[in-house]
Amino acid sequence: MLDIQKIRADFPILSEKVNGKPLVYFDNGATSQKPQIVIDAIATYYQEINANIHRGVHTLSQLATDAYEISRVKIQHHINAKFSHEVLFTSGTTHGINLVTNGFASILKPGDEVVVSSLEHHSNIVPWQMLCEKTGATLKVIPMNENGELIMEAFDALLSEKTKVVTVNHISNALGIINPIKYMIEKAHAVGAAVLIDGAQAVPHLKPDVQDLDCDFYAFSGHKMCGPTGTGILYGKEEWLNKLPPYQGGGEMIKEVTFEKTTYADLPHKFEAGTPNIAGGIVLGTAVDYLNNIGFDNIQKQEEALLEHATKRLLEIEGLKIYGTGKNKASVVSFNIDGIHPYDIGSIIDKLGIAVRTGHHCAQPIMNFFCIPGTIRASFSFYNTIEEIDVMVEAVKKAKTMLS
Ligand code: ALA
Repeated sequence: MLDIQKIRADFPILSEKVNGKPLVYFDNGATSQKPQIVIDAIATYYQEINANIHRGVHTLSQLATDAYEISRVKIQHHINAKFSHEVLFTSGTTHGINLVTNGFASILKPGDEVVVSSLEHHSNIVPWQMLCEKTGATLKVIPMNENGELIMEAFDALLSEKTKVVTVNHISNALGIINPIKYMIEKAHAVGAAVLIDGAQAVPHLKPDVQDLDCDFYAFSGHKMCGPTGTGILYGKEEWLNKLPPYQGGGEMIKEVTFEKTTYADLPHKFEAGTPNIAGGIVLGTAVDYLNNIGFDNIQKQEEALLEHATKRLLEIEGLKIYGTGKNKASVVSFNIDGIHPYDIGSIIDKLGIAVRTGHHCAQPIMNFFCIPGTIRASFSFYNTIEEIDVMVEAVKKAKTMLS
């Protein structure tokens, strides 16, 4: 088992007090905390090698370029991409998804269909809706059941030769349900559809193997996996990235520019216009190293124990209902208490130092399905403890008493 106290010492913020109480940080689904090694790496970059990349012959530019490209290769190995040029730096999952939907605007035709799941974050709904509006394609939605699981029979029935893209999250941000993406990718490919996986909530908990999954695109953010904000990755299969047009025009993404015609750079630069978040990209590699040193098996064991304990303890509270009761779950518990608005519980427990997210979690269709305005979402990371869960449960009980 992990030495949690030793790990917690890596994260300076975890020893802070909030509202006079020791911080209990259970909003990891929104963003993770950062270990000192990541915080230091940002300063080191600016103190020692800050320069623009891919542009200068001077030494600092070479050092910064090397560090950026080493990070790309590190991430390639982390997700098991075949080529490093299939790994695009982005500002986050939303950027990655929009890059793909923008590309499909020149591929989709009226009558084509895009299949999304009912468990999606708005960032994996709205860009596809915009794409459908632009192209005349139709959006089809995979329904879910009361446990928050996608209904696979309904998914199978939605697929046809009209389906051009299927998109689904690996793990639902609002409920923590882990979707059967390998099955879904196989099925989608059988009808010739491309598949984009929104991996934002998965990468803090597991190491995706994009070749084994055989997905066409896998988008994720760096800030949820101990990396800096404003960082992310879009993995795309080489053949797809070659087929899609560039997302943004600008410096670095060209081969040759004349006023008559511009030709584009090879991958990955074709999709990386402008000066990127250089420090962020480099330090995302540091975060990936940090997580791999802890080990994803260890991370999963700790998070499973947290999930089990939290589920059991929360269900002791009368009138408490958990949303997302399917079998395959990440360490997220979304709940409500009968007759009490989630915002009220969230505000009271914040006064006790406990950070959770309340509201619709950018997943309004899920809330509409359950006919609720939102939930209280506690999302756990490997650096959380069983004792912290007990603190939260007592705080929720106290809030319930105050509000009843
Ligand atoms: N997508 C993030 C969340 O679920 C912000 O909280």
